[in-house]
Amino acid sequence: MQTLAYRCLAAFLAISLAYLILSGIGAHATQGTNPIKISENKEWIATSKYWLDRQFCIWFGLCGTLHLREAGWTWKHDMKSTPSPIEDVSGFWFSGREDPDSWSDEEIKKRTIPDYVFEHAPYVHLFSGEQFWPCDLPEHLLHTSPYLNYSAIPDADYKHNLSNLHELNDVESGMHARYVYLQSNDNVEERPTWLAGDKNIPNSPRVENNYEIHGVGPNSEDLKALHNTNNEQQNVDQSDQDVHVADANFIWPIERTPSLNGRCGGNSGYTCKGSQFGQCCSIHGWCGGSELFCDDLCDPLAGDCKDLLALGPRPDLRRRKRRLDKLEKTQHDPNRAGRSSAPAILVVVDKGNGTVDAFWFFFYSYNLGQTVFNIRFGNHVGDWEHTLVRFKDGQPHEVFLSEHTFGEAYSWSAMEKYLPNPDGSGTMLGTFSNITAARAAKRPVVFSAVGSHAMYGTPGLHPYILPWGLLHDQTDRGPLWDPSLNVRSFTYNSTNQEIRSSTRNPKAPVGWFNYAGHWGDKYYPLSDPRQYRFAGQYHYVNGPSGPKFKNLGRRTVCQNSQSGCEVRKWLGGSRSRMLPFPDDGDEEEGGIPGGNSTDDKTLT
Ligand SMILES: *[C@@H]1O[C@H](CO)[C@@H](O)[C@H](O)[C@H]1NC(C)=O
Ligand SMILES: *[C@@H]1O[C@H](CO)[C@@H](O)[C@H](O)[C@H]1NC(C)=O
Ligand SMILES: *[C@@H]1O[C@H](CO)[C@@H](O)[C@H](O)[C@H]1NC(C)=O
Ligand SMILES: *[C@@H]1O[C@H](CO)[C@@H](O)[C@H](O)[C@H]1NC(C)=O
Ligand SMILES: *[C@@H]1O[C@H](CO)[C@@H](O)[C@H](O)[C@H]1NC(C)=O
Ligand SMILES: *[C@@H]1O[C@H](CO)[C@@H](O)[C@H](O)[C@H]1NC(C)=O
Repeated sequence: MQTLAYRCLAAFLAISLAYLILSGIGAHATQGTNPIKISENKEWIATSKYWLDRQFCIWFGLCGTLHLREAGWTWKHDMKSTPSPIEDVSGFWFSGREDPDSWSDEEIKKRTIPDYVFEHAPYVHLFSGEQFWPCDLPEHLLHTSPYLNYSAIPDADYKHNLSNLHELNDVESGMHARYVYLQSNDNVEERPTWLAGDKNIPNSPRVENNYEIHGVGPNSEDLKALHNTNNEQQNVDQSDQDVHVADANFIWPIERTPSLNGRCGGNSGYTCKGSQFGQCCSIHGWCGGSELFCDDLCDPLAGDCKDLLALGPRPDLRRRKRRLDKLEKTQHDPNRAGRSSAPAILVVVDKGNGTVDAFWFFFYSYNLGQTVFNIRFGNHVGDWEHTLVRFKDGQPHEVFLSEHTFGEAYSWSAMEKYLPNPDGSGTMLGTFSNITAARAAKRPVVFSAVGSHAMYGTPGLHPYILPWGLLHDQTDRGPLWDPSLNVRSFTYNSTNQEIRSSTRNPKAPVGWFNYAGHWGDKYYPLSDPRQYRFAGQYHYVNGPSGPKFKNLGRRTVCQNSQSGCEVRKWLGGSRSRMLPFPDDGDEEEGGIPGGNSTDDKTLT
């Protein structure tokens, strides 16, 4: 009884606090002036059959307080689970109708992806405690059905595949598939296995226990060498007038002073190495020596870390690790370490004048949102993230990492890079720890945040939205994904919007690319027990649109450069970001439902 009362009180306090803090922002988001949105909002609220619920929603922005009990989110399969007639999707990726033998030389040229794109492909560290791993598009299609808003599109289900997905654009003529959603056949709160994608966790290399890869900090020789490359790079950078160049004298914050007060990392200027508080720096910015600091919550830029490729010893991960061990026994192949069975998607856009953009797209079937005071916001089915590497005359020049509605751009020299270890193990040499790697490494390392899969250049905590970082993404050196080992590649002309399968996979279909609808469910109505909204933040938001609608024709590397495109010359030093409201600028996943989120963003 007491615990129940306590829980109620705690829940009440949590809600009030979350509400108070978010309401300033939420007021803005819910009281937009767009008449379409206002009427849509009315409809959404009206779906609730509880008078009290509707009034609380209208007057206090507390929508769906009745739904907070998670127990009500899952239910027995009363919805007839319709088994899909197509079970084998392995042929989907090879079912395109192209005949490479008939291609002219010119056609072949248009479909050829330069080798340097692969030589500089990113590595992706997924989060060690991730629950939603990379997924394969055919499998996603298998478990979703096309819906127009909330109604199933008759007869469309049995036949949608990678080749014909774009035909769904015509369902609502003139509406440009804006209202088409690939809705999950299962209740996502029940976490069906296809949604989690466990089988797509990249192969882990065999690593000796607790072998330390980041034990060696950069020495002065390393720094000199790196500084020189940076200078060379900056000369190239300066020719680019479009970008606002941040402080060019800064390379990245290398904490060289042993910590005097126990703090470390970030902008503190301190390393734990040589400090009296312990040799490891946790991503929360404190020095220590226990596993809390040295294992998967460790910041390798500011102290020693244990090897995380061997998967950290967190209790909740043990089960996963054991399962992985089993997988590895059958799958392990040292030369294929980092391979995921879910292919990455590469779209290469030749912008002319020697500029070539390589968009590495990463698809996940589910995005688990953030929690604020234990309340989760921003889940959605389907999740597209990307890393863009921009080349000029065959040289890598800049990198853009997608993060929610914004993203971050870096000069090439700023990125940490990895080099396969010549000792044959799967452990990478990083430019931050080894001079050999600093000279020879060509491939940047990016980090995928837990749940949201937003991409960052460093491991650690990345606050956004509220100035004090109430929402944050977290990244670490979890399983390393080498997307170049399993990739479907395409070339795209952003001027006439022509997509082509590349010469590496001539038979890859392209219909899915032109599909202009959403890759996941429409945000659930208020009447749905899984849905709630507090101060403008929804529990479930719309699934995102696909790669074609990520501004592939962009001029600067930034996806959205209305307010400029700052290309940073160094990594690290997380700073809080305010999310631009979907009202003000660009849509994207998590955007307010019903916007023109799937309209083509052509060249501007
Ligand atoms: C995809 O659907 C089209 C039309 O329904 C069909 O002709 C084609 O064979 C399908 N492709 C695969 C790989 O099933
Ligand atoms: C889908 O929902 C939107 C927003 O409520 C509405 O404007 C649109 O007409 C709906 N489309 C269909 C086909 O029901
Ligand atoms: C290529 O460069 C030339 C000369 O600098 C310029 O006039 C032209 O607009 C550029 N073309 C593109 C597509 O950027
Ligand atoms: C860097 O790695 C190479 C290859 O494993 C090794 O031979 C070399 O000693 C390392 N250098 C440093 C400074 O750790
Ligand atoms: C893209 O299409 C436009 C218009 O058809 C054409 O002028 C341009 O050369 C094409 N770009 C490439 C790289 O093929
Ligand atoms: C959305 O698209 C429709 C149809 O293309 C257009 O009329 C409308 O202005 C667009 N709305 C916004 C906010 O861009």
